[in-house]
Amino acid sequence: MSHKAQEPGAGIHGGRLGPGGGSRAKAFTASIPFDHRLYREDLAGSRAHARMLGRVGLLTGTEVERIVQGLDAIEREFEAGTFQARLEDEDIHLNVERRLVELIGPVGGKLHMARSRNDQVALDMHLFARAAARTVAEAARGLQRALLDQAEAGRDLVLPGYTHLQHAQPVMWAQHLLAYCCMLQRDRERLGDAWRRAGRSPLGAAALAGTSLPVDSAWVATELGLEGPYANSMDAVSDRDFVLELLAAFSVLMVHVSRLAEELVLWSSREFGFIEPDDAYATGSSIMPQKKNPDVAELVRGKTGRVFGQLVALLTTLKALPLAYHSDMQEDKPALFDALDTVLGCLEALTGMVATMHPRPERMAAALEGDFSGVTDVADGLAQAGVPFRAAHAAVAHLVRTCLENGRQPQDLDPAELAAIHPLLTPALVARAEPSAVVATRRSPGGTAPERVAEQLDLVRGWVERP
Ligand code: ARG
Repeated sequence: MSHKAQEPGAGIHGGRLGPGGGSRAKAFTASIPFDHRLYREDLAGSRAHARMLGRVGLLTGTEVERIVQGLDAIEREFEAGTFQARLEDEDIHLNVERRLVELIGPVGGKLHMARSRNDQVALDMHLFARAAARTVAEAARGLQRALLDQAEAGRDLVLPGYTHLQHAQPVMWAQHLLAYCCMLQRDRERLGDAWRRAGRSPLGAAALAGTSLPVDSAWVATELGLEGPYANSMDAVSDRDFVLELLAAFSVLMVHVSRLAEELVLWSSREFGFIEPDDAYATGSSIMPQKKNPDVAELVRGKTGRVFGQLVALLTTLKALPLAYHSDMQEDKPALFDALDTVLGCLEALTGMVATMHPRPERMAAALEGDFSGVTDVADGLAQAGVPFRAAHAAVAHLVRTCLENGRQPQDLDPAELAAIHPLLTPALVARAEPSAVVATRRSPGGTAPERVAEQLDLVRGWVERP
């Protein structure tokens, strides 16, 4: 990419440094190798700042126009991949400013009036964070849609529900998938909160103390689609909470996505076999011809740690940092960029895997056969007939033990055998353990009964339809 940095030199803002000042360390201190990614936000911020300077009379109308046109030209260079960034100009802000002066002459040097890179970079990060929150929320919605489509297509399927990774009670396949849609909805809400709190504008804080020039910070905030300026200029340049919140929201999202990924790995195994991943989302082995590996899900699970790592890295960077701006804070960018790319990559790949996977109803049914996962309902039936639940629980445990010892199923026992275990135990009661019967009775709110699942499908459909 051509907006990559070149060799070090004096740079645009040498200031009190002599020729070559700082040049030996540029490769280490410069952020342009990664912050070129902020060019859109930086240019948008500069355009709004220039217009604000015009409104308050610090720039003439012609000056504003020339500056804005210069910034537009720079944006075109970035879009075309022809912008020549230089390492000696350190970061995106100084590279843009240098290019602006090259393009429109000394008037370009007026743009940085009443501004510091400290409020400028903070502003860029606010704008970037807001866009990132939106993009990830939309990608999460895409995964919800893929899960919803699978839930609707398989709305009659029943499979074992697990606790302690042991068969617990039968559940609807649709309900299982919709549980993830609920988690993802909370993620979307959290991303919305992060978006809202990234809505303050640091412009006008300048280096840290504010500026002596008559700026209109409220106007420039509105111009950029933000709610308003910070109440305190020192806080404005020091705050990176909004990046932390976004990374925290990404991390919780990755917790959810990793849990789903793990289930897909298990479900793809011969032992479970509840799904067959599409060939497009699986890989083979270089030595074992029979292998079909659920790589996408494994990598989503694996990359989760990387997102947590970026959150912890930035928490650690900011911890105990005195006010106000410090170069440490430059590290917010690699953290956010990497986490964002990782989350988006995971969501996209997992959405594809979910959308194309093939459920295997015969394996779900086979897994329920003889697993005793419906017997809670037999105990419930005894309890309804007046047996204390503890006694009912013991009677049904006895029934299960008897069956296991003799390799039989509860429905194979005749009335006399059942009555010997408990006088109120009948074949009709035992029939309640049948998976579809069990599922049908779970009618409590949010339960797995088909009519409750239909409600959940409606709810999730509403979420998926709204951006
Ligand atoms: N490149 C810096 C960053 O990313 C912005 C410049 C901050 N100001 C300064 N005086 N170094 O945080």
